[in-house]
Amino acid sequence: MSSPRLAVIGLGLIGGSLARALRSAGAVGHIRGYDTDPRQRRLAVELGVVDEAPDSAAAAVAQADLVVLAVPVLHTAEALRACRDGLRPGAVVTDVGSTKQSVLADVAAVCGVVPPWFVAGHPIAGTEKSGVANSVADLFHGHRVILTPHAAQDAQALAAVTALWTATGARVVEMDPAQHDTVFAATSHLPHLLAYAFVDLLARLDTRDEIFPNAGGGFRDFTRIASSSPEMWHDIMRANAGPVTALLERQLGELRDVLDLMKGGRWAELKALFERARAARERHLAQIE
Ligand SMILES: NC(=O)c1ccc[n+]([C@@H]2O[C@H](COP(=O)([O-])OP(=O)(O)OC[C@H]3O[C@@H](n4cnc5c(N)ncnc54)[C@H](O)[C@@H]3O)[C@@H](O)[C@H]2O)c1
Repeated sequence: MSSPRLAVIGLGLIGGSLARALRSAGAVGHIRGYDTDPRQRRLAVELGVVDEAPDSAAAAVAQADLVVLAVPVLHTAEALRACRDGLRPGAVVTDVGSTKQSVLADVAAVCGVVPPWFVAGHPIAGTEKSGVANSVADLFHGHRVILTPHAAQDAQALAAVTALWTATGARVVEMDPAQHDTVFAATSHLPHLLAYAFVDLLARLDTRDEIFPNAGGGFRDFTRIASSSPEMWHDIMRANAGPVTALLERQLGELRDVLDLMKGGRWAELKALFERARAARERHLAQIE
């Protein structure tokens, strides 16, 4: 497919960054975008992220060879429903959502089955910021993108989406959707839940006015992700509630064990836990290419 025409549904951080990346790589031709928020549509055109932002999803996808759904995951069905009648024959549709089983189920709910032309994807890159104003062309460069092919997957559609992400400088890997959701419950969803809960706890303490001004680098590192979009993370937690709650139960057990160590004055065991955790983190970081 030479210079495919692109449509981006959801002109936020990820949709905007993908449009910018593909344009700067010369990998796509004309780009149209649609967002339910007219401010994002206007800004996307002003910033040159898209060539046009018509006021309906169907109009945005009408000429497109490739359509990217870049909306919060629980908005996938409504976004697909809004553009489905405008899709031209042969168009490939993909998404960028952080949960994959829910997206595939929502696509099946709209189309009856997951169609061959739908490719489920998830870029492992982002920031705590939202909106097209924060989009950047190099967001995906050097990062992984997970594609989770399904039973009816068309090989050419999969190849087109793989080529799309490769053009942004990302490395594409394939994974089973259930495995994806279990893995990202651990590496992304639980950490966000813990960061939000931790900041919420501190913000409700009587001493909060002294706490926040005295917070240092560790606090910033640990809590940065609690500045992420609440709407996006509400959707992710709901969409992947099973794996996240299973892991949260285990985390609560681990915290109770830590509390017992502290209350019991079992300091050598606490230190051993820290040593185990540090060694595990360093071992795993060293393995990341
Ligand atoms: N931000 C990250 O770090 C990150 C990383 C990887 C994947 N993701 C996934 O990418 C998707 C988008 O996240 P984002 O960070 O770009 O969020 P964002 O809030 O910056 O942008 C989402 C946009 O979607 C729009 N929208 C909502 N419903 C819509 C609909 N039905 N039709 C058209 N537009 C609609 C919103 O108005 C908003 O502008 C989410 O599914 C998220 O899980 C995010």
